[in-house]
Amino acid sequence: MSETHKSVFTENGIPFFAGKKVWITGHRGMLGSALVRRFEGENANLLLTSRQELDLCDQRAVLEWVDKNRPELIFHIGAKVGGIHANATLPADFLYDNLMVQSNVMEAAYRSGVKKMVFVASNCTYPTKAEQPIKEDALMTGPLDDNIRAYAISKIAGIEMCRAYNKQHGCNFISIIPPNLYGPGDNYHPQHSHVVAGILRRTHEAKVAGKSEFVVWGDGTPRREILHVDDLADAMKCLMAAPVTHDLFNVGTGHDLAIKDLATLIAEVVGFEGSIVYDTSKPNGTMAKLLDSSRIRALGWEPKISERAGLETSYRDFLKLLETPQSGRL
Ligand SMILES: NC(=O)c1ccc[n+]([C@@H]2O[C@H](COP(=O)([O-])OP(=O)(O)OC[C@H]3O[C@@H](n4cnc5c(N)ncnc54)[C@H](OP(=O)(O)O)[C@@H]3O)[C@@H](O)[C@H]2O)c1
Repeated sequence: MSETHKSVFTENGIPFFAGKKVWITGHRGMLGSALVRRFEGENANLLLTSRQELDLCDQRAVLEWVDKNRPELIFHIGAKVGGIHANATLPADFLYDNLMVQSNVMEAAYRSGVKKMVFVASNCTYPTKAEQPIKEDALMTGPLDDNIRAYAISKIAGIEMCRAYNKQHGCNFISIIPPNLYGPGDNYHPQHSHVVAGILRRTHEAKVAGKSEFVVWGDGTPRREILHVDDLADAMKCLMAAPVTHDLFNVGTGHDLAIKDLATLIAEVVGFEGSIVYDTSKPNGTMAKLLDSSRIRALGWEPKISERAGLETSYRDFLKLLETPQSGRL
């Protein structure tokens, strides 16, 4: 088993999570399943509900389930997630689903007296022209990326809800803002994938088809920070266990790379030997989104997985997925 924060955090001399009822929403997704893996050997009492067992959009069902099962801690991960194409074409779904899910989980958490909740927001909540590296204070200081505005506003509402419940009801809800995530469990669907999974799939397909070129949208100069889900899962456990004085934390590597370099790295990992061509007729998107993660670094967390090692885990996951393509992630 990989190293986790389990040995670091204790409460009255007992491992922090031991015996605690911990609800992880969205545990079948990329980040949720990483967090479940990181709880291996922790002796926590994990409460896991699939969408079939509990639709988080169903207010009555969520209130009843939480009242009955009484989680002590919640990692609220479940959300409607997608890449730029999905966001641009389904904005109403993103806004509706995420507002419903967050509202239901947070209200239920407050009513049942949950001790602490970590809510996962997103770096798209920051203004497109935020000063780099982006500090938590940059939230709501400027216009958002038009393509993902509905999703971003749902996540800003989630952050604000955490603050409101803390202020009005004395809850202990904190929000985190990660950069682009990747790792095992990612979605490689042509229309729904994020940057890493999208490039990885298309590079692999170019290699298998024996193509000499692989096309990347834009001129390759925009910079992106990527974080492996296992590193984020460790950060979330750290934030849950540590006493914290802030209600919002950026959680990134502190390092970004140009799309050009990311594509080159992915091509190396995949073993594609052709050339990468940039389609400059396509938009570049936001030029940089580097997070200032000094707030969580001060708590002792740091990422452990290099981009190359992380991308290798992604490629292994993708190759395994090709053997079971019915999984819905392709
Ligand atoms: N991926 C990224 O690059 C990224 C970046 C920043 C922030 N985030 C945030 O990180 C979190 C996890 O992202 P992810 O990439 O792991 O997403 P994911 O793989 O799509 O997982 C999301 C999970 O939420 C569940 N879910 C969604 N709506 C639900 C509902 N109404 N009832 C029950 N379950 C529901 C999904 O269930 P089904 O499997 O049934 O659909 C899925 O298991 C999200 O909050 C996302 O906004 C992600």
